[in-house]
Amino acid sequence: MHKYFAKPLFLGKKVEFLPECHSTNEQMLLRVRKADEPEGYVVHSDHQTRGKGQRGNAWISESGKNLLFSMLLRPKTLSIKHSYYLNLVAGLAVVSTLEDEFEMKAELKWPNDVYVNDKKIAGILVETSLIGHLVEYAVVGIGLNVNQKHFSLPFATSICMEKEVEVEREMLLEKIIAKLESYYLLLKASSYEKIIREYYDVMRWRGEVHQFADENGEFSGEIIGIDDIGRLLVKTFNELRRFEVKQITFLQ
Ligand code: BTN
Repeated sequence: MHKYFAKPLFLGKKVEFLPECHSTNEQMLLRVRKADEPEGYVVHSDHQTRGKGQRGNAWISESGKNLLFSMLLRPKTLSIKHSYYLNLVAGLAVVSTLEDEFEMKAELKWPNDVYVNDKKIAGILVETSLIGHLVEYAVVGIGLNVNQKHFSLPFATSICMEKEVEVEREMLLEKIIAKLESYYLLLKASSYEKIIREYYDVMRWRGEVHQFADENGEFSGEIIGIDDIGRLLVKTFNELRRFEVKQITFLQ
């Protein structure tokens, strides 16, 4: 089923709904490998049987309750080293939608988990195809917990649990796409500093001292921000350290 949104967006002009699929990211990757699909193409689903999360984890979501969608982007001149900005703009789009639509104070846990009241409300998985040192295309997958009321994980939440409202999901999808479009336009205009400023405003634990763990054990440190290739910067008592996603665990 294809549909068109009321607003004149350049993203989300082509939208496909699948009642069930393995993974909307996988579906989008199949489509883009087969045909020259347009930038902004969205595939969304009510139920994923093999939803993918970060670091090889599964993304489990109750059928028909949440938003599960993937969008195709073709950033043209975005280099691999700046590809982490796609995660930032997707995260900012979700945070800003939650703020504007539901007055929720959401935060982005590096690299891009969306948290509300210390619980995860959304996850983002960006998969890229490269040509040389540039991003040929990116599939931005977003799972946002909307109307689900019970989770097996203790640190998960949804809009419905936080605000006690039942949300119309298609309307919400359209709002997120509109936000994604404005942040993506900033990225296309190379407004890196503005994106980073907005990211820092909502970056969870930034400027606070917390406990972390790496391969050598636990340590405490203050999150300073990210460096120019998206690594996490943590100031410990004697040095400024940089971490890739798999190298650090957030404790408390
Ligand atoms: C995470 O681990 O936090 C990332 C989760 C990303 C889940 C979304 S749901 C829609 C899209 N399709 C997938 O298979 N994964 C992403």
